[in-house]
Amino acid sequence: MQAITDLPFWRLITAYGGADLYVTEYFRVHSVSRLNKGILRSITENPTGRPVIGQLIGNDIPALVRSAQELQRHPVAAVDLNLGCPAPVVYRKCAGGGLLRTPDRIDAILGALRAAITIPFTVKTRVGFDSPREFEQLLPVFARHDLDMLAVHGRTVKEVLRPGVHYGLIAQAAATLPYPVLANGDIDSAAQALKVWRQTGAKGLMIGRGAVRNPWIFNQIRQALREVPVFHPTGRDLINYLERLYEALWQPGFNERSHLQMLKKHLNFVGQGLPDPEPFLHDMRRVSTRVDFQAAARRHLDHDRPAFTG
Ligand SMILES: Cc1cc2nc3c(=O)[nH]c(=O)nc-3n(C[C@H](O)[C@H](O)[C@H](O)COP(=O)(O)O)c2cc1C
Repeated sequence: MQAITDLPFWRLITAYGGADLYVTEYFRVHSVSRLNKGILRSITENPTGRPVIGQLIGNDIPALVRSAQELQRHPVAAVDLNLGCPAPVVYRKCAGGGLLRTPDRIDAILGALRAAITIPFTVKTRVGFDSPREFEQLLPVFARHDLDMLAVHGRTVKEVLRPGVHYGLIAQAAATLPYPVLANGDIDSAAQALKVWRQTGAKGLMIGRGAVRNPWIFNQIRQALREVPVFHPTGRDLINYLERLYEALWQPGFNERSHLQMLKKHLNFVGQGLPDPEPFLHDMRRVSTRVDFQAAARRHLDHDRPAFTG
């Protein structure tokens, strides 16, 4: 996730068990782009002990081919193409989710990349641009190419992150495509993970915001699969995580205010999982010093009850 799941964040969640596989933030690709050095560090200094997939975003075929060939010289498990980003600045340039409006162009890009990439090649997509009905036209395009995996976020670009995920369409992809499909969207607890996994028949699950909110989630899912008791973090466990988050993401040159400004994206995902999000979010939006931040965390989370609703 752009500007969120970077190398320091990966290091932190690895300490909580971590995922089986990681995808980098996307590398922007255009005619004169170079692979971003900061994102490249998550690959060359991979702190997770697990395979890492490098993700590209763009629509210029020669530039994508050049970048994919450069990327595959690094220790990546696969090269991934982003067909899901809903940010208007990206989709208006017909990159990310913007490409879903032109299946022929996707076809050409996948063909060129498949021919150029000698290691596994994967794609991350949404189910359409304007309407989930578009998935019917997109699936045959994906099926025509020898991909190694497709991750499907079960929303359209226009749905951004609005409530409701089209898990039925992920199930359709999993049932028809000849390669593994990962289900993505709103997986924020072990119970929801198992439900989505069973409902979609997907080979695996991709988790974004749920892991930022609750870094225990990967181990919780492993526990649920093994049918052993699932660990539920308490409010105090969450205070400890927030403290570690503050420390882990600190960068030289930051001051407390700018650091907290950056952390507010993470805190937003954390707050959304609480039984009563608004008072926590209200207070966290206003903190500008570490002392304020710690006091706000204690005000809302200094208890031994389960921290999250799920
Ligand atoms: C702030 C933010 C940044 C994201 N950046 C990326 C990205 O770089 N590449 C990508 O494939 N998806 C990106 N996503 C989308 C997530 O990977 C995921 O598809 C989406 O959040 C839904 O899954 P979730 O409910 O598990 O978060 C981003 C999402 C958010 C909220």
